[in-house]
Amino acid sequence: METVLKIEKVVHRGLGLGRLDGKVWLVPFTAPFDVVRARAKEIKKGYIEGELLSILEPSPLRVEPKCPYYGRCGGCHLQHINERSQPDVKAQIVKEAFERAGLRDVEVSEIVSQSPWHYRHRASLHCANGVTGFYEMGSHKICEVSSCKICVPKINDAIQTLKETLKDVPRADVEVSVDAKAQVFIVLRTDFPGAKKVAQTLFAKGAGRCVVIEHPSGRRTKIGNPDLCLKTWDENGTEIEVVVFPTVFFQVNMGLNRTLVETVLKMLSPYCGKTVFEGYCGAGNFTVGLAKGGAKVVGVDTARDALEGLDEALKKLGLDADLIIGDVAQVAQDFAKNRRTFDLVLLDPPRQGVHKALKDIGKFGAQRIVMVSCEVSTLARDVRFLCGFGYKVKRVVAIDMFPQTFHVETVCLLEVV
Ligand SMILES: C[S@@+](CC[C@H](N)C(=O)[O-])C[C@H]1O[C@@H](n2cnc3c(N)ncnc32)[C@H](O)[C@@H]1O
Repeated sequence: METVLKIEKVVHRGLGLGRLDGKVWLVPFTAPFDVVRARAKEIKKGYIEGELLSILEPSPLRVEPKCPYYGRCGGCHLQHINERSQPDVKAQIVKEAFERAGLRDVEVSEIVSQSPWHYRHRASLHCANGVTGFYEMGSHKICEVSSCKICVPKINDAIQTLKETLKDVPRADVEVSVDAKAQVFIVLRTDFPGAKKVAQTLFAKGAGRCVVIEHPSGRRTKIGNPDLCLKTWDENGTEIEVVVFPTVFFQVNMGLNRTLVETVLKMLSPYCGKTVFEGYCGAGNFTVGLAKGGAKVVGVDTARDALEGLDEALKKLGLDADLIIGDVAQVAQDFAKNRRTFDLVLLDPPRQGVHKALKDIGKFGAQRIVMVSCEVSTLARDVRFLCGFGYKVKRVVAIDMFPQTFHVETVCLLEVV
């Protein structure tokens, strides 16, 4: 089935929405005001997933995508929309996600953006039988690339060396990170017998300060110095260093991370002397500032390496926090059972969101909860759930930490009504 559609807006997953005969069509790579010819790919419950055939009348927001792999590589979804308009498109995506979750009166009070290109400090590449690149859109097929326009230049240098060095490797997943001191780290996830030799060659070629092999069993081999340096800030803007192992999570847009930290600390303020439950604290991007500002933080994360780095950084500053290695849901359940209470709650979960743990976190009696998320659909679901405990959304700030993609970092403040 083919049709002509006028695109009204861009919704979740970066898809353009058009309507025809009371039916909603979602078509990738379209922009608001485009008139397009589309073909139905799949009839879903409530909408038709379309495929773009041709653009009949281009939207004034349209630009020529800069990347030669755009449309095939799965990394970017919005390069065809000009950089000035992308933040507004994302603010709309956030608002709609809240509406779909039944929260109609939530407004995005601020959308912050910065450099739209060369901002990513970490890239996850895949390599198989001489092909190195990113996964294609919606598949595990590798789209071979020689550089990436949203990654920092040092990642692109590393891609060149990886392509030469990994050409005989049957299969490896590769993570390249560039830390706050512009040092490069490579993690090879593979189990083929010659992996160590390849890692040594990469190190000898100067591809990274450290090359780590992470075997499927969890065993690790490291060559070089694994101290990856992250930066965070306290409420006065004082910079603080946290040193972690190269496999630890960090915010890939280091340029906008300061805005993220400032936004979160401001929403939780005043926190001096207050008890804070911080779920998914990682290497302490927010924990350090909270502890430095006098909060009594309980930080929970499953990543032992991240908490070790955080513990070290706190010790250097003469600070303390209660750091628990564990699952947030399990810890929250134990705390709720023991009727433990907190003044404030901060949650920064992975894409799946917090979900089940909220039934216990909601019992902590916190006056304010700040939620941070890069996946607005699960954020909206979780916020809606918290509203059932008597919380109301007070402020939503969207930070465009992932330009050219549909992802957006959203920070949401909830208060007891
Ligand atoms: C989005 S990151 C946030 C980390 C940190 N707040 C930051 O800004 O760098 C999510 C964190 O959740 C942790 N994590 C994932 N699932 C978890 C779980 N079930 N319980 C506790 N931590 C978890 C990961 O190890 C990771 O550090």
